[in-house]
Amino acid sequence: MQLVKTVEWRDATVRILDQRQLPSELVYLECRTVEDVAEAIETLAVRGAPAIGVAAAYGVALAGARAAELPDGDFRTSVAGAIDRLRRTRPTAVNLFWALERMAGVLDRGSEPAGVAAEELLAEAAEILREDQESCTRMGRFGADLIEDGWTVLTHCNAGALATAGSGTALAVVYEAHSRGKRVAVLADETRPLLQGARLTAWELGNAGIPVTVICDNMAAWAMSRRLVDCVLTGADRIAANGDTANKIGTYGLAVMAHYHSIPFFVAAPFSTIDADLGTGALIPIEERSPDEVREIRGQQIAPLGVAVYNPAFDVTPGDLITAIVTDKGVARPPYSRSLRDLAEREDQGAGERAAGREGVV
Ligand code: MRU
Repeated sequence: MQLVKTVEWRDATVRILDQRQLPSELVYLECRTVEDVAEAIETLAVRGAPAIGVAAAYGVALAGARAAELPDGDFRTSVAGAIDRLRRTRPTAVNLFWALERMAGVLDRGSEPAGVAAEELLAEAAEILREDQESCTRMGRFGADLIEDGWTVLTHCNAGALATAGSGTALAVVYEAHSRGKRVAVLADETRPLLQGARLTAWELGNAGIPVTVICDNMAAWAMSRRLVDCVLTGADRIAANGDTANKIGTYGLAVMAHYHSIPFFVAAPFSTIDADLGTGALIPIEERSPDEVREIRGQQIAPLGVAVYNPAFDVTPGDLITAIVTDKGVARPPYSRSLRDLAEREDQGAGERAAGREGVV
């Protein structure tokens, strides 16, 4: 499958696919400063939890490259400032903070001279991107087993290639099921207010040759009642230790509807989206965005000027409404406090065994 690149490093700039222009135009932003990258994240030129993490990592690498000629102390101050700025872009997707922690860890090694440290930052960003691609492939493989031939999958927002550096989270599962020869179709919620479903999910699935039908968000319950939906499959922005899952606003409603109609509700997310430090979803910070995103559609006013608006960008689906969480380490089932911890530990053990040359030894 030909994947569009969401983020790439080229000629000492961070190139970011400008998703605000899709599907009408395929254009890249050339980010030359940390501020350019921060604004691209804030304005959703790049969006989707894993893609935000990758973009932020390259933002730090960019700061490093630009400061590589400075004395070591100034280099460190400058990169630390970039990390701080990027931390303040979006609060909900934990992948952002996870990626920035990794970059901060590289800075903390204190390699000298600055040029060497800058190279290390760039290598770490490339590694974060590579790991994300691998995670997507693994989620696809684990998740495709859950999808039956002939199913129609309802998805929300965009959890595809556009939201990652690879083939996606939820949509990686769809792509893998399709490539295994399963007939799978997708109902895509349009996803107000910014229409990631209608603009992005419909675009990328259409390009991949997967049958896709767009519905308005308020049509999902009716579609379920008409037996037009076999499962719901979404991505996630942050998952608490007990499986409570923050994802694009509207996801929680879908989970309630799916429960009422006895339809399985699946979430797909890499471990970089799991925030084991948070016991429950009540602790997840929820981003509130500009009222204008609701008052307008692509700059066109649709509500009275200045009308009051509530615009939370995410909601939290309780873990007990989630049938399974597909991760890059395997599929977790309730109770998630145990299954997510078991998966994390199993992989750590695997990493230890790989390091000791005992991979696959039971
Ligand atoms: O506001 P967005 O477009 O960044 O929100 C994205 C989502 O909610 C996705 O569903 C989520 O990041 C998972 S995608 C891998």
